[in-house]
Amino acid sequence: MAQAHSDPLWWRDAVIYEVYPRSFADGNGDGIGDLTGLRQRLPYLARLGVDAIWVTPWYASPMADGGYDVADYRAIDPDFGTLEQAEQVIAEARELGIRTIVDVVPNHVSSQHAWFRAALAAAPGSPERARFWFHPGQGPRGDGIPTRWRSDFAGPTWARTRNPDGTPGEWYLHLFTPEQPDLNWRNPEVVAEHLDILRFWFDRGAAGIRIDSAALLVKDAALPEVPAHPGPGEHPHVDRDELHDIYRGWRAVADGYPDTRVLVGEVWLEDRERFARYLRPDEMHTAFNFDFMARPWEAKELRESIDQTLAAHAPVGAPPTWVLSNHDVTRPVTRYGRGDSSFSFAGKRFGTPTDLDLGRRRARAAALLTAALPGSWYVYQGEELGLPEVEDLPVEVLQDPMHYRSGGTDPGRDGCRVPLPWSGTERPYGFSPAGAARGPWLPQPTDWAGLTVEHEEADEASMLHLYRRAIEVRRAERMAGSLGDGPLAWVDAGSDVLAFTRGDVLCVVNLGPEPVDLPPHEDVLLLSGPLDAGRLPRDTAGWLRTTRTNTERNPGPGTQPGGVTRR
Ligand code: NOJ
Ligand code: CA
Repeated sequence: MAQAHSDPLWWRDAVIYEVYPRSFADGNGDGIGDLTGLRQRLPYLARLGVDAIWVTPWYASPMADGGYDVADYRAIDPDFGTLEQAEQVIAEARELGIRTIVDVVPNHVSSQHAWFRAALAAAPGSPERARFWFHPGQGPRGDGIPTRWRSDFAGPTWARTRNPDGTPGEWYLHLFTPEQPDLNWRNPEVVAEHLDILRFWFDRGAAGIRIDSAALLVKDAALPEVPAHPGPGEHPHVDRDELHDIYRGWRAVADGYPDTRVLVGEVWLEDRERFARYLRPDEMHTAFNFDFMARPWEAKELRESIDQTLAAHAPVGAPPTWVLSNHDVTRPVTRYGRGDSSFSFAGKRFGTPTDLDLGRRRARAAALLTAALPGSWYVYQGEELGLPEVEDLPVEVLQDPMHYRSGGTDPGRDGCRVPLPWSGTERPYGFSPAGAARGPWLPQPTDWAGLTVEHEEADEASMLHLYRRAIEVRRAERMAGSLGDGPLAWVDAGSDVLAFTRGDVLCVVNLGPEPVDLPPHEDVLLLSGPLDAGRLPRDTAGWLRTTRTNTERNPGPGTQPGGVTRR
């Protein structure tokens, strides 16, 4: 059995598979994915060839926000299983050569968390309330909202409490839903508690921590309104300078373990220089690169994002991450088939037309592009099957607060969270065991028989085969010093074509309307689709074996200083 290699720098170019446990595999037939199901399917992930899994929150939670409302960070939600089973997931995955990254949610807790219940029961000004942002309302009656900060989930960010006698009381801050009260990171108890949560999971074998909403934790205690054009570090609740001390403390805990434990930040920031600050050598190891994910399928846009990403990371020595999808965004097959193939939360609307054949072709090419870039690569469950966004879920089954807090205009994120199809030709497509008592928590489409793991395994032309092969080739080439960590050099192949070398591997992607000649090469390693009379058709990508001598080397802004040599 393959052992996870003991390379301390494994995270620099790992392939990391995101598991959304509720929708991955249901072991006990209640329609909800669980840890039994995940354990049963670990061999599938080993066969796919991933280096690590990132499991989104599996903790005890009322699920007001898909588990990102944590009631107890040291307990597994009973719908998912037990703490012992979580330890088994970590240990069994490790036996198969797969490391586990757990998701920690430090910005907020569930309103059912013991701390928040104690805070509600305690008086204004009490130590229990000092762990959160309780505040009197404005005006003589205290009914004016403390600030007009807007939630990422639409609407206000403050909710009013009730006193024991039923009269209206203080307000509390929630950047997301009212069921997710924000912690006060100026409180030393909050800091100490999270260091202990990290140790709790590292002690159970977690190889890393994904840090939810990592740029939001610290607030300006004066609670000013958000300025029209906040300068760097001036936003009252985003990217405050004080955050860096928190992550230095976390890094010290991670570095206290003899083998590498990594910190991966969810950092949504437009300012690339500010983004890179989180990746200084004594802070996080990596952070999600959402800029690339949000760009439209256009050569100029993608090249610009790649160049800017590499340039931003180079000064701090951190490898970039590359992400095409996750449990929050529209699935690539659907997005790339649209007239506007960029992604933004604000732009999501019901009924946006898409051409799924076009989207699928582009998503295949995008996978090869993404997998060839320097750094680590994240694959969200179902991406490797080419699942589309499910856009026709009945409104009454939608659970995402982004949908209902928008007043019904935003379809929300349920469409990328529909339970995976594993086998068979009928729903639930092997997601639950035969004879399951309940259907999946979100209904699967009736036309997914051709998208099951079983079906795609038998089809050489499937998305699953492409992903497996890409991961396999990437692994072999990174051992040889090509794909994975290290420098990238652009090759001029025209304005509609992205072409670059990674050692003696050349990645070429045709985003233009017409077929193009393949650049000089010795061998074809992998194609996202068939050639057209020997030429690379539109929306198609290839990995070619070349030699350094016949490749134009371009030490331009997109070139990283030499990668870390270690194998
Ligand atoms: C980011 C997570 O990915 C998302 O699913 C969640 O709703 C927010 N953070 C709030 O925790
Ligand atoms: Ca279950």
